[in-house]
Amino acid sequence: MKKISIDSQGEMIEFAKEIANSIKNNKVIALYGNLGVGKSFFARNFINFLQEIPSEVLSPTFNIVYSYKTKKAEIFHFDLYRIKHEEELENIGFFEALNGNIVLIEWPQIAEKYLPKNCLKITIKNVINHHDEAREIIIENVK
Ligand SMILES: Nc1ncnc2c1ncn2[C@@H]1O[C@H](COP(=O)(O)OP(=O)(O)O)[C@@H](O)[C@H]1O
Ligand SMILES: [Mg+2]
Repeated sequence: MKKISIDSQGEMIEFAKEIANSIKNNKVIALYGNLGVGKSFFARNFINFLQEIPSEVLSPTFNIVYSYKTKKAEIFHFDLYRIKHEEELENIGFFEALNGNIVLIEWPQIAEKYLPKNCLKITIKNVINHHDEAREIIIENVK
């Protein structure tokens, strides 16, 4: 486990680039954290960094998943907030995406038992009594 304190959106962009730079082609990243903490912000910068031609990265809150062709593997960006039953994961192509792609998952709780052993878990927290852009990031392996 590793903890990082960041102070600004700029530092979050740098963090996203760093992870994107070192990521393997078939890595799953579970993104934990409360609404509005910066999961999609992280994902957007991570994806943009790897895209040949950066295109708009939308939050998949309503569409559940978007995918992007990149310099490394294809990236699947999921937001499972609206998934209420595990059985729905099949229909959204979740299991298929887990093989051979880079997968970013916001609200991964419902899919936790299907996450691969080498999944990277990133938790973003607000820092209480601190300014607006301060965050604490915790990086660990799920299992
Ligand atoms: N340090 C930071 N890291 C990420 N986002 C930040 C930070 N500081 C402020 N923000 C802002 O917080 C909001 C996070 O929104 P979003 O990424 O959609 O949240 P989530 O996906 O976690 O619900 C964005 O508007 C972003 O500009
Ligand atoms: Mg989001």
